[in-house]
Amino acid sequence: MKFLKPISLLLLLASVAISAQVRVAVHESDPGPVIPKEIYGQFSEHLGRCIYDGIWVGPDSPIPNIDGYRKDVFEALKALKVPVLRWPGGCFADEYHWQDGIGPRESRPRMINSNWGGTVEDNSFGTHEFLNLCEMLGAEPYISGNVGSGSVEELAKWVEYMTARGGTMAERRAANGRKEPWKVKYIGIGNESWGCGGNMTPEYYSDLYRRYSTYCRDYDGNRLYKVASGASDYDYNWTKVLMQQVGHRADAVSLHYYSIIDWNHKGSATVFTDGEYYDIIAKAIEIEEVLRNHEVIMDTFDPERRIDLLLDEWGTWFDVEPGTNPGHLFQQNTMRDALVAAMSLNIFNKHTARLKMANIAQIVNVLQSMILTGGDKMVLTPTYHVFRMFSGHQDAVAVPVEFTCDTLQSPSGRLYPALSVSASRTKEGRLFITLANPCLDKAQIVTLTMDALNPGSVSGEILHAADIRAHNTFDKPVQVAPKAFVGFKVSGRTVTLTLPPASVVAVTL
Ligand code: AHR
Repeated sequence: MKFLKPISLLLLLASVAISAQVRVAVHESDPGPVIPKEIYGQFSEHLGRCIYDGIWVGPDSPIPNIDGYRKDVFEALKALKVPVLRWPGGCFADEYHWQDGIGPRESRPRMINSNWGGTVEDNSFGTHEFLNLCEMLGAEPYISGNVGSGSVEELAKWVEYMTARGGTMAERRAANGRKEPWKVKYIGIGNESWGCGGNMTPEYYSDLYRRYSTYCRDYDGNRLYKVASGASDYDYNWTKVLMQQVGHRADAVSLHYYSIIDWNHKGSATVFTDGEYYDIIAKAIEIEEVLRNHEVIMDTFDPERRIDLLLDEWGTWFDVEPGTNPGHLFQQNTMRDALVAAMSLNIFNKHTARLKMANIAQIVNVLQSMILTGGDKMVLTPTYHVFRMFSGHQDAVAVPVEFTCDTLQSPSGRLYPALSVSASRTKEGRLFITLANPCLDKAQIVTLTMDALNPGSVSGEILHAADIRAHNTFDKPVQVAPKAFVGFKVSGRTVTLTLPPASVVAVTL
């Protein structure tokens, strides 16, 4: 049976349909590309309380810290195995002047963060603070350079300051406490250059890309990977022009995609109808079609796939929490966000022939964050739990899966499958499968069959709450938390899993 218009059918289904049967064929004998760990990447911008309060409180804070980094947040991020961290924006990047963020903190200039609420930025978190954090986390830094309001010289010197062993920039770095250069791989040449990054045309931006990127040099064995500022959502022309005019001068082009139905009415993060839930899920997984369309354009110009696609901003974007600064983009995070994260990551895992990185927006206290802080309190969000549960896919080999299942239709008219699955072979040789059931009213009984593998022992985790609006607060921090998954049966080469409504499951065979 197909289900259409789940909202209008809810009452009917509640009485007649308790579960659906789905068969999933896992082709472990036909491995695909590696799932780069960077698919599980993060993004941190000088926006609201992401950096200040979220990551950095300063060494003199009464909040427990390691040299100024919040201890609780640092430890939670370490456990998440953050593979790559993008910084300092976002829109902020195109107004950021890196030389304001080095040297003694007390004498760093102050600026107005005009993109994000007019907050005064004291530059106490700058290049050293960011790159040292990446080293402590074991994450690759991804620097977003200022093309909108900066200069070629400014960006060129930033690269030299971070990565050169000798010369004036290296001497300044050493005088500021860091003798050894850092390793910096990823460098973005601008951000959203079609919008907050300068309101450019793709043709004009392509010329600027060629100029700015020419002077971003490789010093002393550091090899830069240059990212051209890419399209938003359905702007396929932007990708086409970049592929034509920038081409192999870039290692990658980026893409941004947020799950927003109506920019003027984004809706509450916690108070929403079932219909609004289905709409957001549908919009989130429309990314698959958007990725495919950008990939087709890239394939036309670059059939050998030398240029990567990086989805360096994605996630949900709701109204800010009542009473908070509208420019700070602070939103709660529910089981709905967990479903968005799980279903999106399952899609990304299948597109890694071209898609090599994805950075959810953002890591702490902004948009679909991993962590929320308030004073000395911290809470992990449902999205954090999904990222942690899915971390077994990092650098694993993708395994194709095939299935047919019911089709859902959202109130906004989008059709999408009622199940989400991806699989990989981990470095330890285990089969790792992640699944999500987006149906609010229906369990799914999923029968997994393998080509040849005998599943042996099965272990797993489940993220599930009775209400899709469930979320964690400082008072109730474990309303949504993973539990051991026991809803499976093994029989020969077949494993049967029962996924409760609105649940996310990760199993290892
Ligand atoms: O993530 C918030 C903002 O969204 C970023 O600064 C910008 O790049 C995008 O529009």
